[in-house]
Amino acid sequence: MDKYEDFKKQINSLLNIDLNYYKEKQMKRRITSLLTRNNYKDFDDYYLGIKNNKKILNEFINYLTINVSEFYRNPSQWHVLENYILPDIIKKCKGSPKVWSSACSTGEEPYSTVMLLSKFFDLKNIKILATDIDEEAMRKAKIGLYSEKSLQNLPLEFKNKFFDRIESSYKIKDTIKNCVDFKKIDLLKNPFPRDIDLLICRNVMIYFTDKGKELLYKKFFESLSNEGVLFLGSTEQIILPERYNYRSIKTFFYKKIFY
Ligand SMILES: C[S@@+](CC[C@H](N)C(=O)[O-])C[C@H]1O[C@@H](n2cnc3c(N)ncnc32)[C@H](O)[C@@H]1O
Repeated sequence: MDKYEDFKKQINSLLNIDLNYYKEKQMKRRITSLLTRNNYKDFDDYYLGIKNNKKILNEFINYLTINVSEFYRNPSQWHVLENYILPDIIKKCKGSPKVWSSACSTGEEPYSTVMLLSKFFDLKNIKILATDIDEEAMRKAKIGLYSEKSLQNLPLEFKNKFFDRIESSYKIKDTIKNCVDFKKIDLLKNPFPRDIDLLICRNVMIYFTDKGKELLYKKFFESLSNEGVLFLGSTEQIILPERYNYRSIKTFFYKKIFY
């Protein structure tokens, strides 16, 4: 049998990460380059390294999860969110909407969301959920120290209001941090929260197979409130969204159809 098949099984039982849902060609290429770089000769050999060496294990998880993010990533979509999507959601909800940033990485996405919500609500009334499979990324999110570059698309008023400059970095203020609850959720394995009014899932589905994406569209449907909105990343449009009971309301935004 292909050694990669064995490797996937071993990783699933050791780490509870199911590589079957990640695009195979891309994942195999990435892992092969990582193991070669570390002087392992094949997948069997590399698996032993992962199992027995914490450093190799952490490096593998880190590499696998691809944590790149930034504040207001693809800014035009955040403007659509502010001007078209949120006002509608807010009209429907009584208080601050239930928001879930579902692959939040190092926190730029949930913190951007809180800053945007602060235009509509008092910060003390905002609480959103942010989750990721990668606990190390969320540990960094909780520290909240960012480079100038990661803030390049953030509106200046937010940059000035919600960060303290520490040498060449920017530290996010506690008033924003306190509005986010971080929690580990594996999108492919764990149950989802319910009654979500705005579900943000950006730049993670590109790594999943069609089967993985389909699974998520269905799980997201269950997770959304009536007429809740799903906000996807730039290359992640749903083809024929009606098949999964969504209506496209703006590019990258889908509303749950409620019968
Ligand atoms: C490229 S980052 C996207 C960050 C942010 N959403 C954005 O668009 O800037 C992808 C994130 O997906 C997370 N991820 C990968 N597989 C996951 C899974 N099965 N469940 C939850 N998160 C996952 C990674 O840990 C990583 O933090």
